[in-house]
Amino acid sequence: MCGIVGFIGEQDAKEILLKGLEKLEYRGYDSAGIAVQAANGVVVFKEKGRIAKLREIVDENVAANVGIGHTRWATHGVPSQVNAHPHRSTTERFTLVHNGVIENYELLKNEYLQDVNFVSETDTEVIVQLVEKQVKIGLTVEEAFRKTLTLLHGSYALALLDADNPDMIYVAKNKSPLLVGTGDNFNVVASDAMAMLQVTDQFIELMDKEMVLVTKEKITIQNLQGETIDRAPFTAELDASDIEKGTYPHFMLKEIDEQPLVIRNIIQKYQNEDGEIELDAEIRNAILESDRVYIIACGTSYHAGLVGKQFMERFAKVPVEVHVASEFSYNMPLLTEKPFFIYISQSGETADSRAVLVQTNEMGYKALTITNVPGSTLSREANYTLPLHAGPEIAVASTKAYTAQLAVLAILAADIAKAKGLAIGFDLIKELGLVANAMEVLCNQKEEMDAIAKEYLATTRNCFFIGRSVDFYVGLEGALKLKEISYIQAEGFAGGELKHGTIALIEQGTPVIAIATQEHVNLGIRGNVKEVAARGANPCIIAMKGLEMEGDRFIVPAVHEALAPLAVIIPLQLISYYAALHRECDVDKPRNLAKSVTVE
Ligand code: G6P
Repeated sequence: MCGIVGFIGEQDAKEILLKGLEKLEYRGYDSAGIAVQAANGVVVFKEKGRIAKLREIVDENVAANVGIGHTRWATHGVPSQVNAHPHRSTTERFTLVHNGVIENYELLKNEYLQDVNFVSETDTEVIVQLVEKQVKIGLTVEEAFRKTLTLLHGSYALALLDADNPDMIYVAKNKSPLLVGTGDNFNVVASDAMAMLQVTDQFIELMDKEMVLVTKEKITIQNLQGETIDRAPFTAELDASDIEKGTYPHFMLKEIDEQPLVIRNIIQKYQNEDGEIELDAEIRNAILESDRVYIIACGTSYHAGLVGKQFMERFAKVPVEVHVASEFSYNMPLLTEKPFFIYISQSGETADSRAVLVQTNEMGYKALTITNVPGSTLSREANYTLPLHAGPEIAVASTKAYTAQLAVLAILAADIAKAKGLAIGFDLIKELGLVANAMEVLCNQKEEMDAIAKEYLATTRNCFFIGRSVDFYVGLEGALKLKEISYIQAEGFAGGELKHGTIALIEQGTPVIAIATQEHVNLGIRGNVKEVAARGANPCIIAMKGLEMEGDRFIVPAVHEALAPLAVIIPLQLISYYAALHRECDVDKPRNLAKSVTVE
């Protein structure tokens, strides 16, 4: 949710900021802006829409080596030029970018800023005006910034410019992600290391309620009491080419195609020298000591959690509950005596999931984060981390992270089963290898996927996905993919459930995508298909080889039934991709969404 960047050094700051924002566009893209310290003061350029539009209005002739930038996902106030960041104080001395939500901004307005004329509808403007107010009553800028931070309730990552001191960027963080990066005679600020890989791979993590004074030579981290904190930089192990599309038209297509590689990578990373699955013994023991596992996640990661529950219960006989994070935090179920928490999050930054982790940490329960970003907030704050090894996922619609989550969850379940002396009945490493092969075959059938998308989804208003057992969970994810990027109203249902209400929506030609990969429910799901077809639906059955029947639209190569979700999701991802293309939607940056949702 919103991305921020900052640069202070000797190079052209404008270009570095714009390039950085392009890399952060996945976090929000309804408006964007930069502010730079120019010869005649701080100059702001901001525009509604994408970074490409911002580029058009940035004046090439303004020379500057210091600046901040922002790409927005609107929370307070509509996407507009006025509400776009950076925001300025009344005298224009201070200029600020902000990621997060200030919960008490109305209160602060009433208490401290009655006499101020606000130009935007944002909560951010309150912060920059507060800084100015404190300076007016005699505090130094550093003191004013610190004092302001102590007044804020909520989440923030901030970068502030002072027109009277062009050699400094004031930075602060609470709950929203933020890093500072170091270089030779320059320093940077970024929501995510990817944004500044263009100039450095050396970054320093910031903790909540820290404030940082950044000059081109020095980074001074302080707590809110003003005490200095020493922290060494780490090397961001990201390959710059991983965050480029290469010859692909969209990141989503590239990331779909990367899935066989990701699965092979995971197999390699999670086996020992004898070719056997082996995880950190501490994780295993913590789960063995618990009496129930609670999986907490949002969106696609929640759907992965549902499949993960099947793995854990079937392979390892460990009871599992799966919960949507945003509900769990205030509607916590009655927990068992010894719960163990698993947080699944591609980004590791999702605020809803983090809110629960903060609670369960306070309650003293152990937690594991399964994430694509080791070092992310959820990874740092949980006791253990299992990385996905999927490489950066840029498209908003998650694809390779989902299948990576499934693979890691299967491996975790198999590891626990082994420790308990339970036989899972097949060689998981070998079968995951076969899944990777099947994925490759599926990724080579793009024309067929395109044809299905065209036939069923090019003009439809809605679409239903049905499946039984684990196919139901895959259907939920298939529906989420389709609605996220094509804006077709798509919903997933348990095969037997559609008829208890939603079948009323079936009209002549309504597409119903049925998934059939599980032998014990194969006849059941086909019965459900007949029910909808009898009412005019246009069924599209996707079955696994060996279970196919006459009239099936697409056959997925056979893989082990337990791992079928990893294979059958590929056609669903591709169908969604092509449906979005047929409907001329922006595949990688769908409307209203953001990849990293850092507000609750
Ligand atoms: C956002 C994204 C979804 C994602 C969800 C959870 O809503 O648009 O694609 O599944 O967040 O993200 P996480 O990073 O926690 O997996």
